[in-house]
Formats: sequence, C-alpha cells, structure tokens
Amino acid sequence: MKQFIETLPKIELHLHIEGTLEPEMMLHLSQKNQIPIPYQNLEEIKRAYRFQNLQSFLDVYYAGASVLCEQEDFFDLTWAYMLQCKENHVIHSEIFFDPQTHIMRGIPISRVVGGITQALKKAKEELGISSVLIACILRHLTQEEGIKALEELIPYKKDIVAIGLDSSEIGNPPSKFRELFARAKEEGFLLVAHAGEEADYTYIQEALELGASRIDHGVQCDKSEELVEFLKIHRIPLTMCPLSNYALKVTPDLTKHNLLELLRKGLCVTINSDDPAYFGGYMNTNFEAVYEALHPTKEEMRQFSLNALEASFLSYEEKEELKRKFFEA
Ligand code: ADE
Ligand code: ZN
Repeated sequence: MKQFIETLPKIELHLHIEGTLEPEMMLHLSQKNQIPIPYQNLEEIKRAYRFQNLQSFLDVYYAGASVLCEQEDFFDLTWAYMLQCKENHVIHSEIFFDPQTHIMRGIPISRVVGGITQALKKAKEELGISSVLIACILRHLTQEEGIKALEELIPYKKDIVAIGLDSSEIGNPPSKFRELFARAKEEGFLLVAHAGEEADYTYIQEALELGASRIDHGVQCDKSEELVEFLKIHRIPLTMCPLSNYALKVTPDLTKHNLLELLRKGLCVTINSDDPAYFGGYMNTNFEAVYEALHPTKEEMRQFSLNALEASFLSYEEKEELKRKFFEA
C-alpha cells in the first residue's frame, strides 16, 4: 500500500503556501531579512508546533510568515513546495496565499504574486506540474479591509483564479463577507471558503449561499443530514486535511475522522495537506495516515485522487489529459 500511495497521481486543492515554510527556511530568512522571531533555533521552533486549536496554530503561522520579504523569498518558498509535489507525485496543485498577511507589513503585492508565479511557471516547464493560485481573505479582519485587498488583486486576475476565505473561523462567519464575495464574483473570480473546520455546519451553508463552489475542510457537515444530502447531490467538493485536523484537535484521533464515511456516502471528498510544514507532512504522509487509521481500499484511495481532479479548476481538456496519467500509473 505504501508504494501504491507514493506513486498514485495526486492533485492538491488545499495548500497554504505560507504553511510550507519549513523551520530551516524560517530561521534562514529571519536572519537574512533581520526580522526577529520568538525562536532562537530549530528546536524552539519545533517545540512551538504543539497546538491546542486553530488560533494557537495561526499565532505561530503568522509569526513565521513575517520573515517573507523579498520576491526571491516567495520564489524560494514556492519552488521548495513544487519540489515536494514532484516527490509526492502531485501532478497539479491549487495554491492558497494570504495577500493581507504581506500587504499589512508593507510588502507590495507585486513581489508576492511575482515570486510565487515565477516558481509556478518554472515548475510547469521543468517538472511538468501545473498549478493555479487562489488568494484568501483573512476573516478575522473586517470586510472593508478584505475589499481593499480584493481591489489590489484585480490587476493580477490573470494569475489568480479564485478568492478564498481563511484564518480564525469561530465568530467570523462567511456572511460577514457577503459584499466582498459578490464583488469578487462580479470580477470573474471563482469562490471557495474554509467552513466547518472548527465552527458549526451553518458556516458551510452560508459559504454555499454566497456562491462558494468548494468547501475547504467541511468536517462539521455531518451534524446535518440534510446538508450531507445536499453536498452529495450537488457534488460539492470537500477539501479535507486529515493531519491538520489531528494537529489542531478538530478530531481527537484519525480513526474518528469522517472522511472515509463521507466518501462512502458518495460525497466528493479529497485529501490535502493544508500547512504541511506545521502539521507533519505533505500529500503522501496525509494519504498514509488515512490508510493507517481507516484502511480504505486501493479503489477508495484512487477515488480521493479522482475526486480532486474532478473538483479542480482545470478545463475539461486539461482534466482529460491528467486523467490519462491515472491509467499509465
Ligand atoms: N490558514 C492557514 N491554515 C488555515 C486553516 N487550517 N484554517 C484556517 N486558516 C488557515
Ligand atoms: Zn486551510
């Protein structure tokens, strides 16, 4: 099974590029850019990676992201992730970034998008891995601040396919961003949203009402039979992240995770790594952890991957081309 997982072609739909910042790169950039972080060495960084919940993680994640300053930093970060994709047989990735985390520190958006897209282009040319970019709005900030960020993103429309919503969930429901989502849609962006990670299933319903075409996480959907039925009938993808849910205590134990049960009910469930540098592993490690805890069949493992292909923002032709890789494998 380990070998089957390693070589299974994978598509990643839920990955925060800032969440791929490995401790070594964090320390290096902190020194290079002279940005102090509250950790002196690798051990101290790793010790900080014991989280109680989403917020305790976000505090460390934003401290880490503060070391990213130059265009080359964003390039190096993204390139390192694309090399991980190669190793993990990820053939296509849809990558989140948090523009406000950088704009607020005075980093021009051109540097952020420039560095990331440069690495994505190189990955397509040299590694044969395709990708799209999704800009996430920080839900702990106001809608007004989010709209300002959205306006800065408009000139980069050709590089950014969708707008997402992330950060501290409880108390910041999708409905707080009704106008922002409407504006993003008018501008031609697709919409996605983190929902039902820690907060309850009504956040998922709200995200769908606002036009989200995929739900990031969605773990809490099973508290409503009606919602599960809706997600099934409409094939609304759930981009689930098992190691993240375990690290942030969304699930006490992966044997209790609902992702396989939801797949067996016919939902479009996918497996993703979220913030792999913080949660203990990239795509293969997530697939392996699911296998160890829940023992899905090979067909089910392949189904997670095929679901991700179906749920991706690629064109019909691009999907057909990638589908061939499943049968070569
Ligand atoms: N930002 C990065 N990772 C996140 C997660 N798992 N939930 C919400 N916001 C995030
Ligand atoms: Zn996430």
